[in-house]
Amino acid sequence: MNNSRSSFSGKFGFILAASASAVGLGNIWRFPYVAAKYGGGIFLLIYMILVLTVGCSLMLAEIAIGRKADCCILDAFKTLDKRFAFIGVISTIIPAVILSYYCVIGGWILKYLAEFSLCHIQSVTDNSFFANFISQTWSPLLWFIIFIGSVSIIVYLGIEKGVERSSKLLMPFLVVLTFFVAGYACFLPGAKEGIIYYLKPDFTKFSLESMLAAMSQTFYSLSIAMGILVNYGAYVKKNTDIVSSVKYIAIFDTVIALVIGLMVIPAVFVFLGEDSISAGPGLIFITLPKVFNSMKGGAFIGTVFFLLVFFAALTSAISLMETVVDSIQYKFRTKRKPAMFMTIAIALVLGSLSSLGNGILSSIKIMGMDFLSFFDYISNNIMMPVTAICTCIFIGYFLKPKTLIDEIELSGPFKAKAVFVLSIKYFAPICIGIILISQFF
Ligand code: PHE
Repeated sequence: MNNSRSSFSGKFGFILAASASAVGLGNIWRFPYVAAKYGGGIFLLIYMILVLTVGCSLMLAEIAIGRKADCCILDAFKTLDKRFAFIGVISTIIPAVILSYYCVIGGWILKYLAEFSLCHIQSVTDNSFFANFISQTWSPLLWFIIFIGSVSIIVYLGIEKGVERSSKLLMPFLVVLTFFVAGYACFLPGAKEGIIYYLKPDFTKFSLESMLAAMSQTFYSLSIAMGILVNYGAYVKKNTDIVSSVKYIAIFDTVIALVIGLMVIPAVFVFLGEDSISAGPGLIFITLPKVFNSMKGGAFIGTVFFLLVFFAALTSAISLMETVVDSIQYKFRTKRKPAMFMTIAIALVLGSLSSLGNGILSSIKIMGMDFLSFFDYISNNIMMPVTAICTCIFIGYFLKPKTLIDEIELSGPFKAKAVFVLSIKYFAPICIGIILISQFF
């Protein structure tokens, strides 16, 4: 195992590192627009059930696999069973794809941070500001490069720990601020309908599509089905209680997503009207400036908010880049520098396509989607479910859940064994299988 990195200092250190990876743009940018688009309350209900069952079970399984195999994702599955080595390979491609467009959105966050800090709140509030910005050629590319440059420098200098520590200090501020702004947004006149839409499940809106969306959001938000937690697992000490760590990570991640939803969805009803509910990836960039604009001191609050979001996005992007670099380094037996250059090159090429796909390349559509949506779709809706289903089949029917339960119990009691076994053997593979197949009909 790569011994240039040491183990996590203990349960707390592990929870912090895994939460830093989990809490990011998935909670802040992706969750609200996906929840809004797929029926609000019904999406929320499915999402919570999936986090508690499939999400937590897969998190536990991945960490336990990493700790048991004690090596990086590329070889973790191979070490346990040669026939499943391919899971390691797909799991390495996913973070590479996600990293590329993640940094494009990170760039958008930076642009908004700059606009708010310069007090350009009026212009940002304009309905067409976002669409105009992302359809330009150079400006979004430049912000994308600044974002990926920041991630690369931190990973290159090996100062992730410092960044993670400072982001840990900042995270509580993000939580407090989101609660505060969400509270404010919920009391805006006309917000009630939005709150009802978001919190009250409407069962007529249930569809396999909403389940697929909730499932891929669960994987994305908890950073599962892409090797990250397997990699982290290898650095978790045998006496670190992974069951309670997983509980804390999942609760923290879900609470942040839920509150951000409360900040954004009622605001859609107030400022844009119900018809804009399926606005898509631009949702937070269109609604939040309006919320801040309506507050006293909005430019300042907006600046602080986007700064905190930038930190949250940075720590997640670091974990994505680390995973890809580790795997390339391991696979090609290269030094860290060439592995980093390869990772950055891939991210720059794919990321530029995602960025330009909203502008000069907007006439090119893949399966009807622009590049960014396509990369998001194939990583989240195809590759991650495939990885997850293969992982479940591997654990459920080849490695056997008992092997991982023994590993998990090395560090403490595991009461929800039955849920774990049911999720891994039946619930998760059947649900994921139906959802995956349904996409093709
Ligand atoms: N979980 C992160 C988020 O919600 C995104 C991410 C996905 C990070 C995969 C690392 C790995 O923003």
